[in-house]
Amino acid sequence: MLFRDRRPSLQGHVAFACLSPRPAGTRAVGFSLAWHAGTVSTKVLLGVSGGIAAYKAAELVRRLREQGAEVRIVMTAAAQSFITPLTLQALSGNEVRTDLLDPGAEAGMDHIELARWADLVLVAPATADLMARLAAGLADDLLTTLVLATTAPIALAPAMNHRMWLHPATQENLARLRGRGVRILGPAEGDQACGERGPGRMLEPSEILDAIALRSGSQLKGRRVIVTAGPTREALDPVRYIGNRSSGRMGYALARSLAARGADLALVSGPSALTPPSGVDLVRVESALEMETAVMERIADCDIFVAAAAVADYRPEEPAQKKIKKSHAELSLRLVKNPDILAQVASLAQRPFTVGFAAETQDLEEQALKKLKTKGLDMIAANLVGGDTGGFERTENALLILWPGGRRSLPLGPKSRLADDLTDLILERYLAHPPSQNP
Ligand code: C5P
Repeated sequence: MLFRDRRPSLQGHVAFACLSPRPAGTRAVGFSLAWHAGTVSTKVLLGVSGGIAAYKAAELVRRLREQGAEVRIVMTAAAQSFITPLTLQALSGNEVRTDLLDPGAEAGMDHIELARWADLVLVAPATADLMARLAAGLADDLLTTLVLATTAPIALAPAMNHRMWLHPATQENLARLRGRGVRILGPAEGDQACGERGPGRMLEPSEILDAIALRSGSQLKGRRVIVTAGPTREALDPVRYIGNRSSGRMGYALARSLAARGADLALVSGPSALTPPSGVDLVRVESALEMETAVMERIADCDIFVAAAAVADYRPEEPAQKKIKKSHAELSLRLVKNPDILAQVASLAQRPFTVGFAAETQDLEEQALKKLKTKGLDMIAANLVGGDTGGFERTENALLILWPGGRRSLPLGPKSRLADDLTDLILERYLAHPPSQNP
């Protein structure tokens, strides 16, 4: 048995397939449709919107089905000018849905049922117009309604003229969608149907398959994951606090990435200006003590705990009840130690797979290894702070990941990519080596 008994029993073929011992030679992590071929029915809801790349949807459906996926298709009105529903119906083996208000179709699987049915919502191609409607949260046709109604991971493969792609309006929509946890696959750069060159070509179906195989799926369906993120604020008086420079980006990116693998995710966040990913349970806290309470209240059924927050090590012993006046030439503050939430979780008798972070200014590997051992962690992600390689308040970072007996360097890159790579590693280690329980 791979997992502890107290874990919730997993429902559905996808999760079951992920629990099965891995056949030799297959990839250790990721939502490999090929790996599950024949043993699993992965339910992909494919949305097709109206761009010339819609013709590639036919090939995409074929490839998805070859790899064992069950595919249901929803087309926008404009998509039907580029490829017929009949073609996609023949290739998918399922009736293609085009209308929200179709009494006949709704009598079968209605749109909410369809939204629930999906393990993954993939929109390919996603036009500029569709992205704008999704970013605005419109539900003016069946596809946009389904995207609003689903709790499944959502991936978009944009396709449009390169000027449309680079237009600030599209880029703003893109940022909003990304911020909500939508995965954006591509676009590629190259010759376009309009005769121009630039970014905006839809990825090839094989590239889309590779991307969804790597980055989304149901491996964590039914698993409870807690991520801490952001800084904490330790009150000095009603208006002042001791804080730090953490933006919360790494923790929020990890929450998005883990939720995209199907986790039931609680994001316990100190003050941050970031938009939380959609579908996660956001628990806002201020101080380390509040963060401790929020985590410990939820830890009983937790399978994976990731401590990405920059928790203040000390807090003022007694915050002043009223604003401190500048009447003295000097002011001494007495600080007391905050509880180490990560170490506390790692030492629980029934502990989750526990991942910590280490932000260091020197001796990165040595310091991180020490923390891995002394705190009893399953994994630690270490990064240098204060240099050129990223860290607080930056969108980029580089990480050194250590676990008992192993290490991996993740080179400087966007925190969103690092989060995906770290999630892959967490999954790999978690599935292969569930945490041993403390005595
Ligand atoms: O020991 P240090 O503070 O460097 O450890 C950093 C790691 O411990 C991070 O994962 C951080 O989220 C966690 N931590 C914690 N509670 C604290 C201090 C740090 O959970 N009070």
